[in-house]
Amino acid sequence: MHTNLSVGFKSGSRKLAAKYFTVAIILFGAQLIMGLIAAIQFIDPGFLFGIFDFNISRTIHLNALIVWMLYAMIGSVYYMLPDETGIETVGLKLGTLAFWILTAAVTVVVLVFAFIQIGPGSQMSIWFINEGREYIEAPRWADIGIVVVVLIFYSNVLLTYLKSKQRTGIMAVLVADLFALVGLYLAGMFYTDNISVDQYWWWWVIHLWVEATWEVFVGALAAYALIQIIGANRKIVEMWLWIEVLTLFGSGILGLGHHYFWIGTPEYWWEIGALFSSLEPVPLIAMFVHVLYDWGKKQGYLNGQNAGQAIKSTIKNTPAMSWIVVNAFGNFLGAGIWGFFHTLPQVNIYTHGTQFTAAHGHLAFYGAYATILVGMMYIAIQKYYGLERLVSTTKTKLGIALTTFGVLGMTIALTIAGYEQVLVERAELGGGWQAYFTAQALPWFTQAMDWRLIMGVVTCIGFVYLVIDLMTIGKNANAQAKIKQANI
Ligand code: HEM
Ligand code: HEM
Ligand SMILES: [Fe+2]
Repeated sequence: MHTNLSVGFKSGSRKLAAKYFTVAIILFGAQLIMGLIAAIQFIDPGFLFGIFDFNISRTIHLNALIVWMLYAMIGSVYYMLPDETGIETVGLKLGTLAFWILTAAVTVVVLVFAFIQIGPGSQMSIWFINEGREYIEAPRWADIGIVVVVLIFYSNVLLTYLKSKQRTGIMAVLVADLFALVGLYLAGMFYTDNISVDQYWWWWVIHLWVEATWEVFVGALAAYALIQIIGANRKIVEMWLWIEVLTLFGSGILGLGHHYFWIGTPEYWWEIGALFSSLEPVPLIAMFVHVLYDWGKKQGYLNGQNAGQAIKSTIKNTPAMSWIVVNAFGNFLGAGIWGFFHTLPQVNIYTHGTQFTAAHGHLAFYGAYATILVGMMYIAIQKYYGLERLVSTTKTKLGIALTTFGVLGMTIALTIAGYEQVLVERAELGGGWQAYFTAQALPWFTQAMDWRLIMGVVTCIGFVYLVIDLMTIGKNANAQAKIKQANI
C-alpha cells in the first residue's frame, strides 16, 4: 500500500498540486503584508486613511488567509492522491482549468477589495463588491464560481477514489470530510437581512470549518505525512485518525454553541456550547500525542536506543517533520488552550470580541493549519526532485523559528491587550462605547499593539526565509545528490 512508483514522481496530479502550492505561498505573503498595514493602522489610524483603509487591509488579510489555506489544502490532496490511491488522478484537464478560473476570480476579487469598497449597500454590491461576511466576504458571483470550482475538485477526488482498487483509511476519511467541507460553504451564501439569522448560518461555515472539517482534514494530512516521513505504521496511524475523527466531530459539531451565547439564539445554547466546546481540546490532545508518539517511537526513545542516531536515519524529511511537530504543539496551544480559555459563557461574557479573541485566532490558524500546510509543501519538494532525503538548511531553521516566534509574540501581546480590555473596559467600567475607547488608550493596550507590530515584522522576516528556502532547497539538494552519485 506504499508509494506506487508506477504513477511517477511527476504525475499530472503532482504538477497541478505544485501550481496550487505556488499561489498559496503568494497569497500567504499578501496576507502578511495586509496584516502589517492593519497593525500600523491600529497604532496610527491616519496611516493610508482614505487611500487604503483599515476595513480593506483587514478584509484582504482575512480572505487571503482563508483562500491560501484552501489552495494549499487542494494542493495537498492532489499531491497525496497518487500515493493513497495508487493511480493517476481522474479529470486533471478539468482540474487544471478549474485552477486557472479560480486564480483569475481570486485576482479580480482582491482587486475589487482593494480599489472598489465605497458606495451604498445594495443587491448590486452583494453580487459584485462585498457580501459582508467576515472571512468569506467574496461577492456572490465569486461565491458561485468557487462552488463550481470546488465541485470539480471534489468530483476528481471522489472519482479517483472510486476507480482505485486501493482503499486506505486516510482516503475514506478525506472523501467523507471534503464532502462536509464543501457543503458547509453553502450555509454562508444566502441573503438574510436579520443579523442574528445571518450570524447563525455564518458560524456554520466558520466554526464548522475550523473546528470540525478542517481539523479532520489536517488529521488525515498528518497521518499521510507521518507515513511518508518516518515510515510510521499505517495501521497505528489510521487507528489514531479514526479516534480523532470520532472525537473531533463529537465535540466540534455541537461546540458550535460557543458562538451562540449572545447573538439572539435560545439560552439552551449556553449549556450545549459550554459542555461540548470544552471537550474540544480532547481530540487536539489526541492529535498531539499521535504525532509525538509516532515520532518518539521512531526516535527509539521507547526502545531505549540512541535517539540521535535514530533521528538521522529515520526522518526522511526533516523540514516537513519540524513543521509537523510545530503543528502538533500549535494546534494544541492555539485551538485547545487559547480556545478553551474563553469558551465558557461565564468567561466569554467578559472576553467576547476583545483582543483575546484575536490572540486565539492568530495562534490557532497558524498553529493548526499554516504549519502543516507548509510541511506538505516540503514533502512535495522532496518528491518532486526524487530525493531520498531532504535535510533542513539554515534557511529552513530560520524560516520556522522566526515565523513561529513572531506569531507567538503577537499572540502574547494580544493576550495582554485582551486581558486589559477585560479588566478595564468590561469589569471596571462595565462595557459600553466610552469604556471601549478608554481601555484602548491605556498603556497596556497601546504597548501591546506596538509589540504586535514588532512581532509581525519578525514573522515577515521568517516568511522571507521560508520562501527562499522553498525555492532553493530542492534544487540544491538535488545538485548535491548528483555530485555524490558522480563521486561513487
Ligand atoms: C484550529 C482551530 C480553531 C481556529 C482556527 C479558531 C479560530 C477562531 C477565530 C478566528 C475566532 C474569531 C472569530 C470572529 O471573527 O469572531 C474564534 C473565536 C472563538 N473560538 Fe476559536 N478557533 C479554533 C478552535 C477553537 C476551539 C477548540 C475552541 C474552544 C475550545 C475555540 C473557542 C472559540 C471561542 C469561544 C470563540 C469566540 C470568541 C469571542 O467570543 O469573541 N476555538 N476562533
Ligand atoms: C505579519 C504578521 C501579522 C500581522 C501584523 C497581523 C495583524 C492583524 C491585525 C491588525 C488584525 C486585525 C485585528 C483586529 O481587528 O482587532 C488581524 C486579524 C487576524 N489575523 Fe493577523 N496578522 C499577522 C499574521 C497573521 C497570521 C500568520 C495569521 C494566521 C495564520 C493571522 C490570522 C488572523 C486572523 C484569524 C485575524 C482575525 C482575528 C479576529 O477577528 O479575532 N494573521 N491580524
Ligand atoms: Fe468555534
